Amino acid sequence: MVVFNYISFILFILFTLTTARFQIGDESNALDGTNNAVHLSKNDLYFLNYKYENYQDAKVDVKLYYECLCQGCIQFDKNQFNPVVQKLNQYLNINLYPYGNAKTIEHDGQYEFKCQHGPPECYGNKLHACAIDYLQNITKAVQFNACMMDYKSNDDAADRCAKSMSLDSSPIKTCAKNERGTQLLKYYGDESKKANFSFVPYILINGKLNSGDNFMEDVCAEFSVPPPPCVDLYSSPEYFHENE
Ligand SMILES: *[C@@H]1O[C@H](CO)[C@@H](O)[C@H](O)[C@H]1NC(C)=O
Ligand SMILES: *[C@@H]1O[C@H](CO)[C@@H](O)[C@H](O)[C@H]1NC(C)=O
Repeated sequence: MVVFNYISFILFILFTLTTARFQIGDESNALDGTNNAVHLSKNDLYFLNYKYENYQDAKVDVKLYYECLCQGCIQFDKNQFNPVVQKLNQYLNINLYPYGNAKTIEHDGQYEFKCQHGPPECYGNKLHACAIDYLQNITKAVQFNACMMDYKSNDDAADRCAKSMSLDSSPIKTCAKNERGTQLLKYYGDESKKANFSFVPYILINGKLNSGDNFMEDVCAEFSVPPPPCVDLYSSPEYFHENE
């Protein structure tokens, strides 16, 4: 008899839990106020609705406007942007704009560029643009361009970085030296002017300006259902230590 009561009790608890879960999903109840609102933490949602498909329509939009020889851009790209992109790439919609504070001058239908750090920067920006175009994989392009930033973003850097990723650098260099590179840089110039920034790196997360100081945390904060790399971050000892 005691055993039977015990089993009934367990069944009752299970039934209550199941009903409670049902009510969480029942919007009409929540809206007409007949039920106490159930507040779920991010972690609750994570365990209740854990489905990879959810991320298809919940990608966080990340835009980076930069120029290849600016020191702040190099630091951010190397230490924050590239590591985060490599961890979270499948949950992000990423756009790179390698143009920065350059100027585009048109005469007789030809385009010429003036860059903050001189002609080597214009050429480097073209290499970055051509890498994005050639690789057709933004995760790889971010990795390649972050490597380029470490070595002055010139032809030698392209060779070295391509080698380290088992890629061929010649199509990228050929593009940068020809009309394709000019057209791409012109395009990134037009897009950069639309963004109307006055400093680089200019970082947007879902359209909001970001300082770039805590990029991983700030990107993770945008998800309603944090993907695994963010959950790892929230449960890492460093994270709790920093946020005490
Ligand atoms: C892009 O490259 C990454 C590795 O750098 C790879 O994991 C991913 O599958 C690639 N994406 C596509 C669509 O090929
Ligand atoms: C661009 O930004 C400047 C200030 O940085 C502002 O004065 C100007 O109105 C902005 N232009 C547009 C089109 O948003």
